[in-house]
Amino acid sequence: MEVIIKPDYDQVCAESADIIREAWIRKNDLVLGLATGKTPLGLYERLIGFYKKGGMDFSSVVAFNLDEYLGLGETHPQSFAYYMDRNFFRQVNIRKENAHHLEGRPADIEEHCRAYENKIKGVGGIDVQVLGIGKNGHIAFNEPGSALSSRTRLKILTRETVEASRPLFKDERDVPRFCLTMGIGTILEAKMIILLASGKDKAEIVARAIEGPVTASVPASVLQFHPRTKLVIDEAAASELTNRSYYRWAYENKDQVIQRPKK
Ligand code: F6R
Repeated sequence: MEVIIKPDYDQVCAESADIIREAWIRKNDLVLGLATGKTPLGLYERLIGFYKKGGMDFSSVVAFNLDEYLGLGETHPQSFAYYMDRNFFRQVNIRKENAHHLEGRPADIEEHCRAYENKIKGVGGIDVQVLGIGKNGHIAFNEPGSALSSRTRLKILTRETVEASRPLFKDERDVPRFCLTMGIGTILEAKMIILLASGKDKAEIVARAIEGPVTASVPASVLQFHPRTKLVIDEAAASELTNRSYYRWAYENKDQVIQRPKK
């Protein structure tokens, strides 16, 4: 894992956007896995900025949303499909058929989840997976206790996750209690993972995920097994990390690594 500590949220987004742009320069038909929530909004703004200035073209990019509330149609303002469309897709030139999302109202849940996994495999897997982290350590909607090898499936949201979303819904009957989410096993197959975290309220869980034991009780801790994960976090979110001076030092010095000539 590479822990990249930036002074503030804005620079977390700038760094993450640069990583994605570099990946796109290497592979124009980049396959992105994308998260919703507060944290990646600034990242999407940056990517839109690249597009508008001609620095990035999304016509060959493929995207897969991580998760969706069960019961919400894609035009519901709180659905994740709507969030992605409003905050990102409609502002760049991604093709509609390349912007995949889990449906909130599939006819057959198991079949839909299986087909989603097959679509990901069909395009050669996810190149860069963007993640946020819940205060309980969830990644996507893999709540604590999720199997570390889980695949895309239906999950029951925790009470805290339900409560966190309640203020966003005008009609109590719409407040979601279930979701469809990529599994932890699905996420771990991404070639590169970028987890973004910002703010003091994420500091404790970030420390448990990065420096604590790998456990299903903190789903994000499983990223310790992933060989190419970058955790891009601000000073506030990094404030409870024991080894933060080492992470800083390693990041500052990584360009100076001397390439030894092969014998
Ligand atoms: C949403 C998702 C969630 C969020 C997490 C953090 O697609 O996958 O795991 O990333 O709940 O949300 P924010 O960024 O709002 O703190």
